[in-house]
Order: sequence, then structure tokens, then C-alpha cells
Amino acid sequence: MRGVFIKPVSSVAGEIAVPGDKSISHRAALLGGMAHGETHVSNFLLGQDCLSTLHCLKQLGVSSERQGTEVWIRGEGMEAWTEPTEVLDAGNSGTTSRLMLGVLAGSPFAVTLTGDASLRTRPMRRVTDPLKRMGAQIIGRQGDNLFPLTMKGGQLHGQTFRTAVASAQVKSAIILAGLRASGETCVEEPVSSRDHTERMLRGFGVEVLSEKTVVRVHGGARLTGQEVSVPGDISSAAFFLVLGSLAGRGELTLPNVGVNPTRTGILDALRAMGADIELIDVTEICGELRATLRVRPARLKGIEIGGDMIPRLIDEIPILALAASLAEGETVIRDAAELRVKESDRIHTVAEGLNALGAKVEELPDGLRIQGQPSLRGGQANSFGDHRLAMTWAIAGLLSQQGISVEDMAAADVSYPEFLAVLKKVAL
Ligand code: S3P
Repeated sequence: MRGVFIKPVSSVAGEIAVPGDKSISHRAALLGGMAHGETHVSNFLLGQDCLSTLHCLKQLGVSSERQGTEVWIRGEGMEAWTEPTEVLDAGNSGTTSRLMLGVLAGSPFAVTLTGDASLRTRPMRRVTDPLKRMGAQIIGRQGDNLFPLTMKGGQLHGQTFRTAVASAQVKSAIILAGLRASGETCVEEPVSSRDHTERMLRGFGVEVLSEKTVVRVHGGARLTGQEVSVPGDISSAAFFLVLGSLAGRGELTLPNVGVNPTRTGILDALRAMGADIELIDVTEICGELRATLRVRPARLKGIEIGGDMIPRLIDEIPILALAASLAEGETVIRDAAELRVKESDRIHTVAEGLNALGAKVEELPDGLRIQGQPSLRGGQANSFGDHRLAMTWAIAGLLSQQGISVEDMAAADVSYPEFLAVLKKVAL
């Protein structure tokens, strides 16, 4: 089997500047494109997903310039967006797809969106149904559920929605459409999802009312170009938090990591397992909290998680499952059926992948049951094109007895193109 071979290590050390937050980078590009005036984004994530958002914007007539991780977007308002002559390709990115559908629902032209093989299997009805109720026309495969989808937007009417799942992509799509609708648009979620859209919209001068799990906006909003400084991505930091906790020796420091409370479930879960993670210098910039994280080795024990905690760590469950497989005792993760419709069916791919490496993991309909063991054998693993699996298997390789050969490690480029290079520097 080809693949990148990751050798076991016994200690780690160093400072890691994790790349910009993926969710916040997407929103900075999109809101910059919707705004009037220039938006300057620093520490923009250069992963494939966020480049897909910039590329779609370009096809819609919104120009941007990039120098390293700095991006300048010249917004002329949503009215200046033009009908694209080509299909928009969102690549692997669920966030590009769903947020873009929300914005385009208010544009009076036709657009077709598609994506890669994984994205073409992911459910879109969760956004197409509400957008159709607001007045957009959408047609696509399997009852307007799967990409490719064609949308013709236009005059929208504000509505009140109660979503079935806690999803920031769904909430954001509705809010963004609501900015162009008549009257008020209101979204109520079963549990609060990440709130980056609400926070950033306020920075762009839009009034957004949030109370517990309910968000309200009014149509006719005007966005003004802004300076956006993107914090490091806690979802990328999570890999090093688990590595630093379980490597035998050493200490890792991660400066400038976003610690928005709707995203810090991984800190709470790892600390509940016994991890030694310190938060230093917590500050707020551009409406988002950030901090330096310091992690030292610790003995981890199993925990039970579910309910409100799940949306706060949904993207970190693959790496959390690895931590659990090396913790003492049993870990049970429930209420996480959403994992089945991520970049891969992560309940299945995580269980199967970890078991092939010598772990003891049982698939549950909505989660995982993991029996911790003192060590992980190693062997062969496949990312199945899922970036978070690729990085989980690389960390597993460092913590294993025999090392791991990771097939399709390049999938990591979606959110962390420098991941392997950074691992080489800190794993000794
Ligand atoms: C995201 C929301 C989450 C998350 C995804 C990014 C966002 O998805 O899993 O990686 O930026 O809004 P859902 O909205 O489907 O829960």
C-alpha cells in the first residue's frame, strides 16, 4: 500500500501557529463580497475549502487579491454580483455550498452549484427547503437535496424557522438570505451552533439579535467593508492538544487560537478526561475570543459526552476518539448522528479505521463506544478523502507502537496544508 509512513515518537516540543479558522475565513470572504468597500482579512486560511469560496466569489464578479495569508476583497454590495457563466464548484466544502446558497437566494439570476464526489452526497435539503419557503426557486437531484443544484433567487420574504438539527451552516444560510428578504427572519435551533456569522455580521454593521437558541435579522441590511483578523483554528489545534497530552514527554504551545465558547467543547472534553491544558492571555479581537493554549502530557480517562456539548466539538470527534482509545476506561459519544453526513460517514470511518489499528471501538447509531487501551498497535489507515481523518491517522501514527502508513494524506490540504511539515518539526 502506498501512503505516508508516520513513525512513533516519544516526545514533542515547540510552538505551533495553527492556520486561520476555517469557519471564520469563509465568512470573512463572503461578507467581504457582500459589503460595500474594501475588506482586509489577515491570517486567512489557505486551505482548499476557503479557496473554493474565493473562487466562487470571483465567478460571481467579486474580485479579491491575495498575498500570503492576507486577502483584500473589493465589495460593491450584493446588487453588483453577476450571473456566472460557469457552474460554481464548491470542491469539498459544505460551508461554501450552504452559505453561498443562502446569499444567492436573494440574487435575481440563475446559478448551478456542484462539488466533489463527497460533497455531491451531502444533504442540501436542510437549506433548500427553508430557502424555497422564503421564495427562491431550486431544483436538483433527489428532491432538491443533492448537488448539482440550480437556483434562481429573487424576491424573498422573511420567515420563522425551527431547525431539526443544530447546524451553523443551515442557520447562516437562513440569516444571510434574511438580510435580503422583506421583514424579519428568525431561526431557532434545538441547541446553539457556532455563532461566527452573527458575530461577524455585527462587525460589518448589521443588527443581529440573539437570545439563547434564537437569532433574528431584518431585511435590507447594508454591510460595510471591515478589517478582519482571523484567529487560529481550534479544530486544527485539537490534533496537537491530543498529541501533547499523549506523547510521553514535552510541551506544546499554540498561540492565537480561537476560543469562541461555541467551539471549545474539545477543551472541556479533554480536560474532563484529565488533560493538562492551560489557556493563557485570553483576548477579544474582531468579536472573537482567542488565547494561547499550552498542553503537557497527562493520563487520560474515559468520559461520556452528548447533548449540548456535541455541536461545540462536532469536528473534533475523530481526534477525540483517538484520545479515548488511549485513555483508561470507556468513552461513550452520543447524540452525534450528524457525523454520518460530514466529509465522510465519520461514525463508520473512525470506528473502522481505529479498529484496524488495534483499538476497540463500537459503532452506535448516533456515536461511538470506545474501550481505552494502554497502547495502539498501528498498521495501515485510509483518510477516505476526509481531511480530519487524514490528520487523526497521522497523530495516531506518532502515538502508535509500530507506526502507521496513511493513504491519501493529501486530503489534509482542505483545512491544513502545512500539517505534515509542522508535525515533522514538533515530533522528536
Ligand atoms: C461549519 C459548521 C459545522 C461544521 C463545519 C463548519 C461552519 O457544520 O461541522 O465543519 O463553518 O458553519 P454543520 O453546520 O453542518 O453542523
